[in-house]
Amino acid sequence: MTEDYFETRLEASEAAAKRIAELLANRLENQARASLIVSGGTTPRECMAALAKTRLDWQRVQVALSDERWVPADHEDSNEKLVRDLLLIDKAATAELLPVYEEGVSPEDRCEALQDPLPVLPFSCSLIGMGADGHFASLFPDADQLDIGLDVESGRLYIPVTTAASPHPRISMTLAGISRSDEIALLFFGEEKLDVYRKALASANGYPVARLLRQKRAPVRVFWAP
Ligand code: 6PG
Repeated sequence: MTEDYFETRLEASEAAAKRIAELLANRLENQARASLIVSGGTTPRECMAALAKTRLDWQRVQVALSDERWVPADHEDSNEKLVRDLLLIDKAATAELLPVYEEGVSPEDRCEALQDPLPVLPFSCSLIGMGADGHFASLFPDADQLDIGLDVESGRLYIPVTTAASPHPRISMTLAGISRSDEIALLFFGEEKLDVYRKALASANGYPVARLLRQKRAPVRVFWAP
């Protein structure tokens, strides 16, 4: 576990972006394509903006989503829209996005379809945020298939999720998928989430993020600012 604490959210976001770019560049030196997982919500916005300004061979980069709300790609709550608007622009415009949402298909069937073909593995980095209830991706404490979602050996890449915390059905990448990364960048802001993070680190409590912090497959690097 590496912890990097910053004075401002912009500094934390830019440091995370710099690290992600390094990890992608390392992979691109030795293989034809590299991949990256990004989460949604408000936290990654400045990090995505910094990445979009970073010089990299983006046309060889695949971007996968840690989770998605089951809404069309032009909906305000869509993570695909967030990524297209903030990351796949400027220098990163040629990166390839792997969408989760598909019209006319059920989330359950879509999760099956997303098993094949798999993205380029391992991911160079997973950029992950967290909630004050300890969720990450859409692995909420009340998600029905949470056991499968948090099982690093499950063999599943995505699971359907319904949660009282969201008005939309969701699809979440599993910890089995997220942990197939050279590194997990855990970016979060504010004292409340820092407290949750510290509790999750101290004991294997009911916070889903406690399982992310305890898995041994991918090193976790924390980027935090007040
Ligand atoms: C999403 C996420 C989710 C997010 C946290 C934190 O799309 O909702 O991937 O896990 O990272 O809910 O959300 P904020 O960044 O908005 O606080």
